Amino acid sequence: MIILYSLMFLGGYISAAGLGLTCPEWPLCPNGIMPDDEYFIEWTHRLVAATTGTLVIATMVASWINKNSDKKIKITSSLATIFVITQITLGALVIDLKLHAVLVAIHLGVGILLFSMVLLTTLFAFRIAKISLQSRI
Ligand code: HEM
Repeated sequence: MIILYSLMFLGGYISAAGLGLTCPEWPLCPNGIMPDDEYFIEWTHRLVAATTGTLVIATMVASWINKNSDKKIKITSSLATIFVITQITLGALVIDLKLHAVLVAIHLGVGILLFSMVLLTTLFAFRIAKISLQSRI
């Protein structure tokens, strides 16, 4: 949740500060894996996006493998996976099409949907943990 929130905050900063095209290539910036001062913010947005993607997909896999996991959590974590993949693909398109306004707006919209699904997954996970603790007492 915190990582995703920081990512959205960073995206908002990139957009408002007009830094969207400081790193014009995809998936890496022109100087490869390590960031340079001029690409730092955009590079961080992509690194945090990759971390978020990995965590969201891992959560979905865990929810499907775990026999005790609730149907609701499977649904929200799978939707989060769909949104995170869409969002990363959209990120690449936003760069490719030089910050087309409609795409930037969709990038924001899918980001909010992704945030909602991650929030619901977290809430369900805590609720299930609480119920199983109570049933042991
Ligand atoms: C889970 C993945 C991601 C999330 C949640 C996310 C979220 C966001 C958010 C909330 C914004 C601000 C939008 C606005 O203020 O209108 C933004 C901006 C941006 N994102 Fe992402 N993003 C993700 C992945 C990516 C990736 C992988 C790329 C590029 C390869 C990317 C490129 C951009 C760019 C260029 C902007 C700035 C657009 C502008 O200057 O107007 N994003 N992102």
